[in-house]
Amino acid sequence: MIQLKQVSKRYGDIVALDQIDLSVQDGECVVLIGPSGCGKSTLLRSINRLVDLDEGEILVNGQNISNYKAEDLRRQLGYCIQGVGLFPHLSVYDNIAIVPQLLKWDKTRIIDRIDTLMDLTGLPKTYLTKKPHELSGGEAQRVGVCRALAADPSILLMDEPFGAVDPMTREQIQLAFRKIQHELKKTVLFVTHDMEEAILLADRIAIMHKGKILSLQTPGGLVKGKQDAFVNEFIGADYPLRLLKRYTLSDLEVIKVDQDSSKIPLSSLNEFSTTKEILSEILQSGSQEIMIQKQDKSKVIITYDALIELLRKVLNNEIV
Ligand SMILES: Nc1ncnc2c1ncn2[C@@H]1O[C@H](COP(=O)(O)OP(=O)(O)OP(=O)(O)O)[C@@H](O)[C@H]1O
Ligand SMILES: [Mg+2]
Repeated sequence: MIQLKQVSKRYGDIVALDQIDLSVQDGECVVLIGPSGCGKSTLLRSINRLVDLDEGEILVNGQNISNYKAEDLRRQLGYCIQGVGLFPHLSVYDNIAIVPQLLKWDKTRIIDRIDTLMDLTGLPKTYLTKKPHELSGGEAQRVGVCRALAADPSILLMDEPFGAVDPMTREQIQLAFRKIQHELKKTVLFVTHDMEEAILLADRIAIMHKGKILSLQTPGGLVKGKQDAFVNEFIGADYPLRLLKRYTLSDLEVIKVDQDSSKIPLSSLNEFSTTKEILSEILQSGSQEIMIQKQDKSKVIITYDALIELLRKVLNNEIV
């Protein structure tokens, strides 16, 4: 668990953090989003003591961070730096292995762990001997993600970890990250500029502006109440539609189809497609429904009305 209590940080006249109160529960993913310069990175960096506070206190797993030994704090926090920050003179392997080596893991354990992480982020093992300058921006970012996850910390601080990855790979990594998050239940504070990334990954979204958190809500809850003018403008009029990126077939009420009794053509989507893709497919089909075949070969019909019903539930916080 991470708790910030009345945290403030100034740089001269600039108030980077303005009396921030924030708790991230165990196993929760809170996504910070807001315009450039609003204080997102400063907030993350204050948690791992890269920034000294002017006021307030921060607790990690119940203990004030200033009381931790540096090594004990590092063991609990995985940090993915904005702009990657790999060590240029070290190989990919050595970059990822830094914290496990500091924690004196034995070599086979480190090798096994790095193997798993390379698979997870889709990096070929042949890259382990490369130096950072031999990687593309997106590959370097993935190495940065591996490094943050390396020692299996309970808390992850991730500062725009997928920012430089191309859209297709980005989506793959986002989905992979969401999957491990569901399985491993890390406590995550994640910074992004991308609202759809926030919608996909967040349990709660924190909207920051000028050093303050203006809104802290579930993705669906963000629309309710029409908070303040900045939040309203920031999330945009199309926000409810963007929410469809978060959900899949399992969130929808579907009609089961008996063997080949339907004349509706089979769509190319599958049960892992997002409800955003499903809506697009329905709109393109020119009808009110499409049929999807699941992995187990069973077929279901999804109607336009089922999508509207899903959105209604999300906006009423009946589904998170
Ligand atoms: N070391 C520093 N010295 C002086 N000012 C700083 C320093 N670090 C950050 N700032 C200022 O504090 C404010 C918040 O910066 P921060 O890096 O937290 O923003 P951010 O929300 O992460 O922005 P971005 O989305 O561009 O990464 C900015 O106005 C920035 O110029
Ligand atoms: Mg930043």
